[in-house]
Amino acid sequence: MPDPIVIATWPFGKVAAEAALKSLNRGEPALDAALVGAQAVENDYSVRTSVGFGSLPDRLGRLTLDACVMDGKTLSCGAVAAVEHIKHPAALARRVMEKTPHVFLVGEAAKWFALQQGFPLEVPYTTEAIKEWLEKHPDFRKKGEVKPPAPCDNPSDINVDEHNHDTVTVLTQDKKGNLGGVCTTSGLAYKLPGRVGDSPIIGAGLYVDDLAGAAGATGVGEEIIRICGSSFVVEQMRGGKSPQEACELACKRVSAAAARRGVHPAAVAFLALDPKGNTGAACTTRTNFKYAVGRGEKVEMLQAKEIGPDA
Ligand code: GLY
Repeated sequence: MPDPIVIATWPFGKVAAEAALKSLNRGEPALDAALVGAQAVENDYSVRTSVGFGSLPDRLGRLTLDACVMDGKTLSCGAVAAVEHIKHPAALARRVMEKTPHVFLVGEAAKWFALQQGFPLEVPYTTEAIKEWLEKHPDFRKKGEVKPPAPCDNPSDINVDEHNHDTVTVLTQDKKGNLGGVCTTSGLAYKLPGRVGDSPIIGAGLYVDDLAGAAGATGVGEEIIRICGSSFVVEQMRGGKSPQEACELACKRVSAAAARRGVHPAAVAFLALDPKGNTGAACTTRTNFKYAVGRGEKVEMLQAKEIGPDA
């Protein structure tokens, strides 16, 4: 069996990878370790743009969180979306997987389920996030203002890069060779209330199958959903592509989908892990996607290859 391995999105993925790697090295199962890693980022209030409490809210100033989990051995999975006041949406997604016959709970009903499961209701806001919302975006508070601001008119124009990154996706392989994955986010900053991106959608933000590999996504969720991004990457690996080739093909698919709408490709990135412990990652141009890879005792940051529209 390969050594345990973890890969995680963005510079804050280092925190996730370090926590997950310790868990894997203790012999814990892949999904447990991925969850430990994701929670380390959910707990970090310095991650201000995108994951967990303290992140930037929606147009109405409300912070809603999305997450999903998947176990590669059994294909068991769970997800929650648009959940308010629950600090650990990834753990809640796991409860959906383990305690219900369902896969996906949303909004107030997901919060009701969280309360039933003993999760506390907590205040998700930080002074900094609310101050920024009030100061930088006063027009969002205007009565009847529901039109996305200019940068959101076209998802292809949404800026996601290393300074404005979003989701943490953590993929793991444990000592038994089983794969696990977790994806957690607050979604797009200043999104329209009710907007849900790729992150909690199994097959879009995350897909994990011990027989083929694990994949996760980050970036503009609308573009990832459009191509069923993570499922696409895993199916490429099932067909014999390496994790690197599979991620590059997914970026090309995003670009091709954008071309069909006459727009330039949005900022998205994919990362993947195959059952032999090989990894890969790729992003569309101007995404500047960095990711963490942990093996043995060491976590290193790598830069993903950018795949332009003409690649
Ligand atoms: N990738 C996170 C989102 O679009 O919500």
